Amino acid sequence: MNKMEQHPAPRLDATLEQILDLARWAPSGDNTQPWRFEILDERRLVVHGHDTRDHCVYDLDGHPSQMSLGALLETMAIAASTFALDMRAMRHTDTPDTRPTFSVEFLPAPGLAPDPLADAILARSVQRRALSRRPLTAAEKSALDLALPPGYQVRWLEGGQRRAAARLMFRNARLRLTMPEAHRVHQAVIEWNARYSEDRIPDQALGADPMTTRLMRWVLRDWRRVDFFNTWLAGTLAPSLQMDLIPGLACAAHFLLVADQPPQRLDDYVAAGRAMQRFWLTATALGLQLQPEMTPLIFARYLREGRVFSTTPGMREQALRVSRQGEALAGRQDWQAAVFMGRIGAGRAARSRSLRRPLRDLLLPSGSP
Ligand SMILES: Cc1cc2nc3c(=O)[nH]c(=O)nc-3n(C[C@H](O)[C@H](O)[C@H](O)COP(=O)(O)O)c2cc1C
Repeated sequence: MNKMEQHPAPRLDATLEQILDLARWAPSGDNTQPWRFEILDERRLVVHGHDTRDHCVYDLDGHPSQMSLGALLETMAIAASTFALDMRAMRHTDTPDTRPTFSVEFLPAPGLAPDPLADAILARSVQRRALSRRPLTAAEKSALDLALPPGYQVRWLEGGQRRAAARLMFRNARLRLTMPEAHRVHQAVIEWNARYSEDRIPDQALGADPMTTRLMRWVLRDWRRVDFFNTWLAGTLAPSLQMDLIPGLACAAHFLLVADQPPQRLDDYVAAGRAMQRFWLTATALGLQLQPEMTPLIFARYLREGRVFSTTPGMREQALRVSRQGEALAGRQDWQAAVFMGRIGAGRAARSRSLRRPLRDLLLPSGSP
């Protein structure tokens, strides 16, 4: 459809507006919010998704974006349940994988109980700083296990394995901080001098102390500075201690969400994102904080598939060491079937966090391609 055939968005029904207003708080990798909404009528819309694979080394085949879209759909369904509306979502199989598109419809379901996770939607946020080391209680672990739909299991990494996971994250940080492809992403996704950010990650939410953050801001502006600092001044040491090793040790556990069938198709990643969001919202409802640790899984997949992710010599070897550590920690099968990794523990909610683009900026005119 060309521009001439597009129509302005129909007036937004009040209930639909409240559902979308909550749904947009779903998490997305680097807070990219890869979704736009085309309203068809008061109970139907099209979700237009996209991914960032062409410029983001972490968005391998768009899978993290597809998981974010899954989180969006799950949040939408949870929000709809509070209005006794049952959500049906169907993916358009004729759109390319780079543009996942879904028809969404809300049907009256008078007997539908409101999903209790609705109360956690706004409170859920990443906490990248140190958490309590208090082990999770049996009741907490069981609630988190039960949060997952059939087809997924939690693999807990506690005690000695927590320390091993922290070492893995420390090594992985070196990889991220010395790779020019990752540097370009960090430059684009961090909003400096910020406690909140509508479309990126505020620097204060990263987990480093103010001095290290200031230094990072200056260094990250130019790859030559990064390279110089890394080569001569152990530039990765302070950031990776503060953002990876210390938080990696200061938590109750690390965990993997493992799929019974390793995900392959776009729909598998969307489903995995829905499971991830139920797990994360349940953690929030229990008063626990969580931080995703996705990059080791992403680099492991690059390696498994023999794909090049960096032109810099030595990066592949570094990633190989991280991935071997992951296999030794979780076992090869679980490591390869993991769809999500993170750390979790009791603690205060983050003081600084990502916000979201206003709903009006996410609305597309109807008839959008
Ligand atoms: C698929 C996915 C992968 C993510 N990977 C990471 C990660 O590796 N490290 C991290 O600190 N945060 C990660 N995040 C968290 C996002 O950066 C965060 O959700 C986003 O910035 C919005 O912030 P909020 O969750 O606090 O609302 C990830 C989120 C998603 C959905």
